[in-house]
Amino acid sequence: MPGTLAPLSDRRDRALVPVVDIRAAEKIFSNGMRGLAPIDLTVRRGEFLTLIGPSGCGKSTLLKLIAHLIQPSSGDLSWWGQDFSHVGEPERRIAFVFQDATLMPWSRVDANVRLPLDLAQVKMDEAVPRVAAALENVNLTKFARSFPRQLSGGMRMRVSIARALVTDPDLLLMDEPFGALDEFTRNKLDDDLLRLSSERGLTTIFVTHSLYEAVFLSTRVIVMAANPGRIFGEFIVDESEPRGDEFRTSDRFAQLSRGLSEMLNRASVAGSSAM
Ligand SMILES: Nc1ncnc2c1ncn2[C@@H]1O[C@H](COP(=O)(O)OP(=O)(O)OP(=O)(O)O)[C@@H](O)[C@H]1O
Ligand SMILES: [Mg+2]
Repeated sequence: MPGTLAPLSDRRDRALVPVVDIRAAEKIFSNGMRGLAPIDLTVRRGEFLTLIGPSGCGKSTLLKLIAHLIQPSSGDLSWWGQDFSHVGEPERRIAFVFQDATLMPWSRVDANVRLPLDLAQVKMDEAVPRVAAALENVNLTKFARSFPRQLSGGMRMRVSIARALVTDPDLLLMDEPFGALDEFTRNKLDDDLLRLSSERGLTTIFVTHSLYEAVFLSTRVIVMAANPGRIFGEFIVDESEPRGDEFRTSDRFAQLSRGLSEMLNRASVAGSSAM
């Protein structure tokens, strides 16, 4: 019945269904290159999951499979327990943030953020307040009428995040979004990202080369190895929220970073010996 909430038991079941479930997914590219060996991975609601590993271990390939930008050569993926045709429905929305902000240089900040809504033919009277809210979320309200060239790299990345948030995603995919930024700006964006994730109850899958960023942000880190790309191990960061500078400078953070660094070293050795 329209407007009627599903029975409580159904809603509970839905909360338990994985956001993404990957079963023996393998990717062999058309040139014969094996980008990913068969992998299994279950991503649960509310997780902040980070993929880390040496260059070429298949992090971007895995993220693109999850975004349905490429198809697995074998194996299966499901999104909220169903095939991709249901993605985009309420509570099943996905947004992707790439390493480059990929903004339209000829459009002002607000028009850049509005792009996904324009593409979905959302009417202006609904789109305008959503864009304003997304810009406020990333502290860019004052820059709504600026052009991308008038902004710093960190601000351009904020615009890119606002453009992802304006679609009200449930699952946010981010491929090295802050890799090109200085450490201070990156830390600031990391802080904002954690705040937004928890405020909105997002599930996030994040790729980084920085083990410190991985420890700071994640509830779980997936360490990958190369040749062929695969999951080497997982590392749980059992630290409650809110996380901030106190966590960054704590002994516990240093200890966790050491642990992850050791696992990464082992993954790197495993990847090179298989060449
Ligand atoms: N379209 C493609 N065609 C052929 N090979 C590809 C293609 N895309 C990726 N590969 C190969 O698949 C492997 C995994 O690539 P991928 O880009 O996923 O790695 P990555 O972990 O994201 O690396 P990086 O840290 O450098 O971004 C690499 O060996 C890469 O060369
Ligand atoms: Mg990559």
